[in-house]
Amino acid sequence: MSQPVSNEFTDFVAGKLDLVEEELARQAGADTPFVTEAANHIISAGGKRFRPLLVVICSQLGGRVSDEDLVRAAVVMELTHVASLYHDDVMDEATLRRGAESANQRWGNSVAIMVGDFLFARASETVSRLGTEYVRLQAQTFARLVQGQIAETRGPLAGEDPLQHYLDVVADKTGSLIAAAAVFGGMVSGQSPETLAVLRRFGEEIGIVFQLADDLLDITSTRTGKTPGIDLREGVATLPVLLLRASTDPADQPVKDLLDADLSSDEVLAQALSALRSSHVMDEARADIRARADRARAELAALPEGQARLALAELCDEVVGRSS
Ligand code: FPP
Ligand code: MG
Ligand code: MG
Repeated sequence: MSQPVSNEFTDFVAGKLDLVEEELARQAGADTPFVTEAANHIISAGGKRFRPLLVVICSQLGGRVSDEDLVRAAVVMELTHVASLYHDDVMDEATLRRGAESANQRWGNSVAIMVGDFLFARASETVSRLGTEYVRLQAQTFARLVQGQIAETRGPLAGEDPLQHYLDVVADKTGSLIAAAAVFGGMVSGQSPETLAVLRRFGEEIGIVFQLADDLLDITSTRTGKTPGIDLREGVATLPVLLLRASTDPADQPVKDLLDADLSSDEVLAQALSALRSSHVMDEARADIRARADRARAELAALPEGQARLALAELCDEVVGRSS
């Protein structure tokens, strides 16, 4: 475990996140009450605000930062993330998001897609106020997000290792935006290119850990605010499933057979989930997640000592903790 972060720093971060929250609600405001309601739907349903948190912490590595720029940078990251969730739920045909009805379930696919576009437009307007460098990184990140989603939709190509394909998808669809959040935090406080490179590597790695841990929760938890086992039913690859499929041990065959069964019935899905939960691959997946978090933590050694660095180390523990 890492050294604890001071209460002062924790309160400071919470204060900035309150400002971010106010601005998010403002940005979701549209010309009609219907669009405002639909745009606020997923924002107000909750969420971890992991990307704004990372922006705020990374903005405190030294140097001056204005509240205006800090809030803008954090809001751009969260709006982009939420916009992508509106689209993702359409692609995944998800009915639940953050414990609430998904937008596509409530208003249909067309509205959900357009509201995602609306929030992304808001993010684009805000990022333009920060400057060209920010716009460039935002655009590059958008391209990676989209390519990650397309690669996930297509699946591994012939001859491609499914595990490597999955890790590449995770890096693109999640690692890229979390890396951008860490870099945005560094940029608003004027960090050197070297520090920004460290933040990018740290953010990408912890972002991958974040998604791997999230995917594990699909198997282990009933309290995610999403339908448990949905990835399994939809045939979306996750780390434990890929480790199981790569196994040549005949003892793993019965679990593989269960995963290959028709999982449309709730009873069969529950059986498959239970078999997977008891499999050795769960421990292997957790060990892999811990090793990646350790790699992310190792990057922090190159950052200036202080509360922000401690907070980033704490974040590593928290992200890993979600999967155990
Ligand atoms: C959630 O993954 C989805 C993402 C991390 C990225 C989605 C990206 C896009 C739809 C493209 C970019 C679009 C815009 C408008 C920026 P998941 O389905 O594995 O996670 P879940 O369990 O939270 O649904
Ligand atoms: Mg999804
Ligand atoms: Mg998805």
